[in-house]
Amino acid sequence: MKRPMDPSEEARRLESDAKEEILSAKSLEDLEAVRVKYLGRKGLLTGLLRKLGEAGPDERRELGRFLNAAKSALSAEIDARKAALKAARDEASLHEESVDITLPGRAREIGSRHPTIKMMREIMEVFLGMGFTSIEGPEIETEYNNFDALNTPEWHPSRDEHDSFYVADGLVLRTHTSPAQIRVMKSQPAPVRVIVPGRCHRRDTPDASHVISFYQVEGLYVDYEVSMADLKGTLAAFAREIFGTETRVRFRPHFFPFTEPSAELDISCLVCGGKGCRLCKNSGWVEVLGCGMVHPNVFRHAGYDPRSVTGFAFGMGVERLALLKYGIENMRVLYDNDLRFLKQFQGMHA
Ligand code: PHE
Repeated sequence: MKRPMDPSEEARRLESDAKEEILSAKSLEDLEAVRVKYLGRKGLLTGLLRKLGEAGPDERRELGRFLNAAKSALSAEIDARKAALKAARDEASLHEESVDITLPGRAREIGSRHPTIKMMREIMEVFLGMGFTSIEGPEIETEYNNFDALNTPEWHPSRDEHDSFYVADGLVLRTHTSPAQIRVMKSQPAPVRVIVPGRCHRRDTPDASHVISFYQVEGLYVDYEVSMADLKGTLAAFAREIFGTETRVRFRPHFFPFTEPSAELDISCLVCGGKGCRLCKNSGWVEVLGCGMVHPNVFRHAGYDPRSVTGFAFGMGVERLALLKYGIENMRVLYDNDLRFLKQFQGMHA
């Protein structure tokens, strides 16, 4: 009959196997697996300890002593190995995280002002330099300020529902900055010399030269003897300041309900200098802004006496001017936020 394996021999073999596995554990995870294999609740050494009861009293004492000694020896070995593995791991990650101070730094991206805002600031700078003050008005306006007070009767096409965004009863998104004229005049007596930059909204169909939300700069000059000559001188100086001293200007008769007489200011075409090209549709001229002498009815609505004061007003589309000045063909690129386009304006004045 084959003798069953001597329990103490089995114990010694287990201990030496365990030691070997502990030393060859390559990671903390491996080591934990070894610990569970031998010393865990269902571990091999733990199993032997449980079986002690089956041994005879003498053997039990001796084997018990051995197993307990082996258990604490293995625990100590595991702790030592654990410390070594941890130290190695920490050193490796330190190495990984360390900073190479000889590497060149990462350059920060520098932003720039949007061309529309640049254009607006350039426009404003010219008028501020002439002594105008800048004010703002609300984007949500009363229908009264946006139309009625500006002598725009009910039947006028710009009152048509299709051209305006109606917000609530009697309120619209302003379709131009002109309602600010009414606000300033109601808030102070003449003389007035203000510009009003701001966003306007129209229910147009967007295309290469129209967007539904756009910027305007409005101007209003009211005093006791303001004439059409003042208007012409001011706006001609403005055009040359923005588009260059060689620029020729012309005032073409036009109609606005809130000015009389009214005009549009054209400049000689920037591309062909007046010979005729695609930009100016072969006319040699391009339109820049609308202007005119403040209509007496506007003064009346604003509480000024048209028998004692006169004034001129003008309004221009900022995106439109940006297209002309920067030679942009399609207004929509101003809203695409394409960095390849926007970066071309980096570092430019204003
Ligand atoms: N408000 C007009 C427009 O939006 C421009 C304008 C302003 C014309 C002031 C004359 C006087 O087209």
